[in-house]
Amino acid sequence: MKNKKDILILGIESSCDDTSISVVKNGREILSNVISSQIDIHTLYGGVVPEIASRNHLKNIGAVYNEALKKAGVTLDDIDAIAVTYGAGLLGSLIVGVNFAKGLAYASGKPLIAVNHIEGHIAGNYLTYKDLEPPFMCLIVSGGHTALCEMKNYTTRKLVGTTSDDAIGEAFDKVARECGLSYPGGPSVQKEAQKGQTNIKFITKPQNYKDFNFSYSGLKTAVVNYIHNKKQKGEEINVPDICASFEKEATDQVAHKAINACLAKKQKKLVISGGVSANLALRKTLDNLAKENGINVYYPELILCTDNAAMIASAGYYNYINKKGIANPKNLAPTSTIAL
Ligand code: KG4
Ligand code: ZN
Repeated sequence: MKNKKDILILGIESSCDDTSISVVKNGREILSNVISSQIDIHTLYGGVVPEIASRNHLKNIGAVYNEALKKAGVTLDDIDAIAVTYGAGLLGSLIVGVNFAKGLAYASGKPLIAVNHIEGHIAGNYLTYKDLEPPFMCLIVSGGHTALCEMKNYTTRKLVGTTSDDAIGEAFDKVARECGLSYPGGPSVQKEAQKGQTNIKFITKPQNYKDFNFSYSGLKTAVVNYIHNKKQKGEEINVPDICASFEKEATDQVAHKAINACLAKKQKKLVISGGVSANLALRKTLDNLAKENGINVYYPELILCTDNAAMIASAGYYNYINKKGIANPKNLAPTSTIAL
């Protein structure tokens, strides 16, 4: 299972509503990736309830840890370092994973690596594409972030653009709620969109795709106002058409800007990461634009798009071998926001 030269990282992720622990070999090979999802619980409330998320992490994390080691066929003795998401995310959720990791590191004397959740999402691609190496352009599209950055090497990135208001995933979730669709919003909107026409124009002013910053609050508000107006007039709303039209405008913005950023910065590789990278309309638009412009696009496999600990273990591996992010198990503190 493990040769002398192999490096095994135990990854721990608890930043939102998934409790996940994974063992990854040499940053690229998943030996286990156990994810305990709380979707069924939060669906009852139409979104993640932080207090409930935190209590459930606490309830599940011990069993998830045992299963992750068992599936990987290893014990804690075989692990070289423990990597944990310390931010960004829900503080009450992060505290559970961080304290669990601190306890393990302190008791075992193994190094503790503090991983930025976004770094983890980017690393999800190293697990999918074994030969992918920086430099590349990266588009991060999640519930909390919409950003473009250049990965100069495994541990250094340069921000190219970010959202001035909401994140794209947040907009998907809001539109889903307004349309009465179930949580999580992104997959529900995508499912409805596949049955609809892109015949509604929510944003009428021309878009500047050469500006690499993003904005989603205008689009989100336009959809909400459209639905409210229809309802006030007693008219039916066509959910599939609303979802298809919103999805197109939302995904066009990130796709065009990402391709233009690659051209401007002379990057031939575009790596997509974060939960919204699962969106099929986004993938189709990006594939077409990339082909026209001679750019290769990389998406994580679907299970690695949304939150999981394998991506944290992979990012942890690159930090570990480059001596970055080494934390003190006595005082590592989680943080709800981290600048990209
Ligand atoms: O990366 P992620 O799992 O958590 C954060 O770090 O935020 O992303 C979650 C976001 C949610 O907003 C969810 O609605 C969105 O990703 N999402 C999607 C799809 N699958 C998940 N959005 C659009 N289409 C999808 N298929
Ligand atoms: Zn995430």
